[in-house]
Amino acid sequence: MIVVETIDALRATRRDLKGRVGLVPTMGYLHDGHRSLVIAARQECAHVIASIFVNPTQFGANEDLSTYPRDLPRDLAMLEAEGVDVVFVPTAAQMYPPRFQTYVNVEQVSQGKEGASRPTHFRGVTTVVSKLFNLCQPDDAYFGQKDAQQVVVIRQMVRDLNFPLRIHVCPTWREADGLAMSSRNAYLSVEDRQAAVTLWRALQAMRTRYEQGERRAAMLQEAARAVFATEPRAALDYVSVARARDLEEVETADEPLLVSLAARVGKPRLIDNMLLPYHLNSREGATAVLGVG
Ligand code: PAJ
Repeated sequence: MIVVETIDALRATRRDLKGRVGLVPTMGYLHDGHRSLVIAARQECAHVIASIFVNPTQFGANEDLSTYPRDLPRDLAMLEAEGVDVVFVPTAAQMYPPRFQTYVNVEQVSQGKEGASRPTHFRGVTTVVSKLFNLCQPDDAYFGQKDAQQVVVIRQMVRDLNFPLRIHVCPTWREADGLAMSSRNAYLSVEDRQAAVTLWRALQAMRTRYEQGERRAAMLQEAARAVFATEPRAALDYVSVARARDLEEVETADEPLLVSLAARVGKPRLIDNMLLPYHLNSREGATAVLGVG
């Protein structure tokens, strides 16, 4: 495995790779969700490039940039064990040199949900991901359904800016009790870790109502709110019922849906989501419906 820290070294390394190249962008502190993206890329591509970069432009002024968890030696060991060929670990100065002033902004789908709570977040994501696409020139890029709006925003950018690559959407990896794996789970106290499962329980309640035939968004949202009402440690930020293809909020569900929510549980703000009908929560289902159309 080659670890490169500079753009020049990355470009030189990329030039020597022949055949399909898969890219897995991350911010590090890797867990089994990240690992599943690497495994998917490894199975389908001749070479895998992973990036580890805690991207400052996607953090708001009051967010956790300085305390974001890091463990580079452990991350590199995991990537090496999974057969990654190249790891790109740039410094912030490499990615954003003095006088940097060009940003990629996807307008509509960046605005609601996470975009409403974090106004400059997706601009930072699309800027860094477009830089990574330009630098790594991947044929395939792997993202997690865990960050479903991020997938929809990136797919819109790929279409609009004609990046010649395929986006793959891998299912959300969960702890045994259903909590979606996240680097930010490291911030949870013991009590808050228990309360964090409320997000998953609320999604399950929405699924149950949906499978009973409920199609009114307000009633599905009510089912989620009722679950949060039972857990004082978890404060719901939003619960969204949207079309999976473009994340437009709906009043009545008549096509594949993304139900998504965000909540503060103690220190961290956690997000989770589910596609409905439920069988869409697979690699094939999510790749087919999320942000497509
Ligand atoms: P990060 O949060 O490190 O996540 C990297 C990738 O792993 C993303 O595609 C994310 O959706 C996926 N992922 C995270 N948790 C997952 C889980 N439990 N199951 C499956 N996949 C999971 O997302 C980012 O970094 C950044 O915004 C990035 C795209 C790297 C741009 O800076």
